Parts: sequence; C-alpha cells; structure tokens
Amino acid sequence: MKAFCFTLTILCAVQSILAYPRPDFAINGAVSGSGQVKTASLDLGTEVAKTGQRSVDLASGYTLLTTISANLEAIGDAIAAPGVDLATALNSLAGDMVGPVAIAFDGVIAKVDAFTAVLSGTFDGKLAAIETDTGVYIGKQFADAFRATGTTLNQLKTALTTLKSDVQAARTAAGSSSTVSSAIIRSKIPTRSVNNVLTQIRQLRATVPLITFVVNSSLDNLKMVDDFIIAMKEEVVRGAAAYVTSFEAFKINLEAEPNNIKTKVETGLGEPIANLISTIKNELDTVAKFTEDLAPKVTALETVFTTSVTAKLSSISNAFGTYSSNVPTLIENLQVSLGESLCSPIKAVSLVQIANAGFSDFCFSKYSPRVFAQVSLTIDAFDVCFEKEVSRLLFLETVILSIAEQIAYNVADLFDNLSICLALPDANKGACFTMLTPYYDNLATKSEAHLSTVANLVAAETKASFNRLGACLHNSLSATTLAATDIASLASSCLTSGPQP
Ligand SMILES: *[C@@H]1O[C@H](CO)[C@@H](O)[C@H](O)[C@H]1NC(C)=O
Ligand SMILES: *[C@@H]1O[C@H](CO)[C@@H](O)[C@H](O)[C@H]1NC(C)=O
Repeated sequence: MKAFCFTLTILCAVQSILAYPRPDFAINGAVSGSGQVKTASLDLGTEVAKTGQRSVDLASGYTLLTTISANLEAIGDAIAAPGVDLATALNSLAGDMVGPVAIAFDGVIAKVDAFTAVLSGTFDGKLAAIETDTGVYIGKQFADAFRATGTTLNQLKTALTTLKSDVQAARTAAGSSSTVSSAIIRSKIPTRSVNNVLTQIRQLRATVPLITFVVNSSLDNLKMVDDFIIAMKEEVVRGAAAYVTSFEAFKINLEAEPNNIKTKVETGLGEPIANLISTIKNELDTVAKFTEDLAPKVTALETVFTTSVTAKLSSISNAFGTYSSNVPTLIENLQVSLGESLCSPIKAVSLVQIANAGFSDFCFSKYSPRVFAQVSLTIDAFDVCFEKEVSRLLFLETVILSIAEQIAYNVADLFDNLSICLALPDANKGACFTMLTPYYDNLATKSEAHLSTVANLVAAETKASFNRLGACLHNSLSATTLAATDIASLASSCLTSGPQP
C-alpha cells in the first residue's frame, strides 16, 4: 500500500513538472492555484447540472401533477444552464493564455451576473405558478437556497474582480513581453487572490445541492402522489368489483327465497284435503246431499289449497325476481359514486404531500391510508345492509308460516265435521251436510283471501326491503363522504399543526 502511494506521488509530481509552465488566467504565465480552480469549476459544473437532471414519470392522469412537474423541471433547467455556463467559463479562464485580461475576466463576471439574475428572477412566472398550485413551502425553500447561492455568487464576483486587477497588474508589469515571468506573477498576483476565487467556487458548489434537493424532493413528492392516486384508482375498481360480488350473493339469496317461502306455505297448510278425508271419501260419496251441496265447497276449498297456492307462489316468485333484478340499479356506478365521495380527501392528502412542507411526509403517511381504507369500509357497510335485509327475510318466512297455519285451521275440523254427519242416522245425514255447506263456502273464500294476503304481503315486503336496502346503501355512501370530508380537513390542518401526541 505504502509503495503504491509512493508511486502515485511520484507520478503526480512528474505530471506537474511536465505540465509546466502552464499559462493561466488570461496571461501567458503559470499562476499557482489555477489547476485547483480548473478542477473545482469542473466539479461545480457537474453539481449544478444536477439541478436539471431529475424527472419523474407521472401516469395517474392528474393534470395538476404534470403541471407542477413541468414547472419544477423548467426551474431546474433554468438554473442548470447559467450554472454550467459559469462553471465552463471559469474552467476556460483558468486555462486561458491569450487574454486580453479584461475581456476574459469580464466574460466570466457576466456569467456570474447572468446566473444571479436567473436566481433572483421569476422563472417566467413558474415560481408563482408553483406557489398557486402547492402553497408557500416550495417557494420558501427555493428562496432560502437561492439566497445562499446568490450571496456566494456575489462573493465570487468580488474575488474575480480582485483577481482581474491583480492579473491585469502583472500583465502591465510584463510590458511588451508576450510571456509574464513568474517573478512578476509572484509579486503582482497574491496567492490569496487565486485562493479567494477557488474558495468561492467551492462554496458555490456546496450551495447547489440544496437547490437540487428542493427540485428533486418536490418532484419525488409528485411521484409519490401519482403512485397513491393510481393505487387509489385500482382500489376503487377493486371495491366496485367487490360490491358486485356482494350484490350478486344477495341476489342469490333473493332468488332462493320463493322456494323457502313455498316450503313454509306447504308446511303451514299441512296435508292435502284429499288425504284428510280419504278414509271416509267413499262413504261420503254415497250421500246425495253431500255430493250435491257440500262436495262443490270442499272442492273449492281444495282448489284454494292447490291451484291458488301454485298461482300465489308464482306471483311471489315474480316479486322476488323483480326485487333481484332491480338490486343492481340501486347504485348504478359505484366507481363514479366512490370517486365523487373520495375526490376531496384524495385531493387534500395529495396537496399535503405536494406542498413539501415540514410535516408533509408525516401528514401524508397519517392520512393517505385512511382515505385508502374508505373503499373497504364502504363495501363493508354495504355488506351490513345486505345482511340486514337477508335476516329480515327470515322474519317474513316466519310470518308466512303463521298465516299458512292460520289457513290450515279452515280445514282442520273438516274430517271431524264430516264424520259427525256420517255418524247420524241416514235420515239426518243429508241435512247435516247441507247445514255445513255455507260454512265451508265461506271458509273457501276466506282461505283464498288469506292466500292473497300472503301474496300481497310478499309483494309489499319485497318493495319495502328494496327501498330499505336503497336507503341503507346510499346512507353508507353518505357516511363515507362524511368521513372523507373529515379526513380532508384533518389532513389540511395537519400540515400546519403537525403531530398531535
Ligand atoms: C437529484 O436527482 C439527480 C437526478 O436523478 C441526481 O443525480 C442527484 O444526485 C439528486 N440530488 C439530490 C440532492 O437529491
Ligand atoms: C266441527 O268439528 C269441530 C271439532 O270437532 C267442532 O268443534 C265443531 O263444533 C264442528 N262443527 C260443526 C258445525 O259440527
């Protein structure tokens, strides 16, 4: 290692010797320190070029982001150009052997002035546009960074002016000689003069990364927000799809409901009438008054229990079919609805990050996940609405079972009543059946009426349930909007109030 370092030292020394004499600072004579000025100005050029190097790919389609990004990049470029110009000019000056001194130095000083003018200018209104779009923080950071750079540029100008007159003095002292001797240089150009220029170049280079930081970090924030918006869009699409899954599952419940109700009706009604009286049917048919008077009423009753039941179950099935097919119309386009609800907090948390303020990262980290969560929270609330209506349908089934049981009472005594008539002496049987006829006539009518009640109840209840569901879903969306508005205002105030332990 030591040997290597030693070799390197020798090599460098040899190179320096080979490079002598080196004409510098617009005169044909070697000025000590010019090599460092050259290197430092190269470094300055590399550093200042970085202000215009960062760019971000924005894909969310949020035009505010692309507008801000374009303004930031334009400011970066507008700084890089005169900065690199100045660095190049300094580098050339340090190696200039031709002069004339005044022209060479004034050219560089003009570059200093041009750079200063850019930093103290308006950047074609772009700084103001950034303030309008993002608030005061980025502008303040720029102002801070520009002030430091501007101060250094001023000091560089002073140092260059001093060096200029020193070099001019050396040039004058050399008279008509094209070269300037090292004795003259040493007497007229103090090392301090060159060193002052070198110091200011190094200082200038040290102030530039802050400008680059402001540009880079502001652009990075835009990218972060862009990613957030893209993720948010995907989440809304996912949420809308989850909602479709939820209501499809609910529709399956609705479509299964007619069959559940059919089971309840059949359970409630019990045995078919034919079965109830099958053991006495032959005997009944031997009595003329039965077949003439009562049998048509029993048949009518039987029709209620068979044909009418089938017809009502079919209308019940239709009612659920209508309900089911109307469910998707309750929220026509959830993506749009969620987008509307979440628009303001998405914008608010985005602005919090875009602002590039002291609490930006903190506040964005605090509130952006909460906006994101709103989608799932809304879908969960929707699911509660669906669940609620499903459990209410179970109550409906219970009610229908009770009504069907009530209808069954109308035939519960039939066997007993007919048996009593049959047990009477032949002479009295006919009158017994005739006496029952008006009762069973009425029971047939009332049974039909009860069945209509079932069908009407279901028709009304499916409509009621549909409307309750609609109210519940839209109320959940309103709750989301409310929460979202809350998040938006909290996020905005977080920017100034910061953490709230
Ligand atoms: C800014 O971004 C440029 C380009 O990506 C990079 O070269 C440079 O190091 C960055 N500087 C800072 C201070 O972030
Ligand atoms: C029918 O039968 C029931 C049960 O046995 C009895 O309570 C009722 O009085 C009977 N009705 C007639 C009209 O016989």
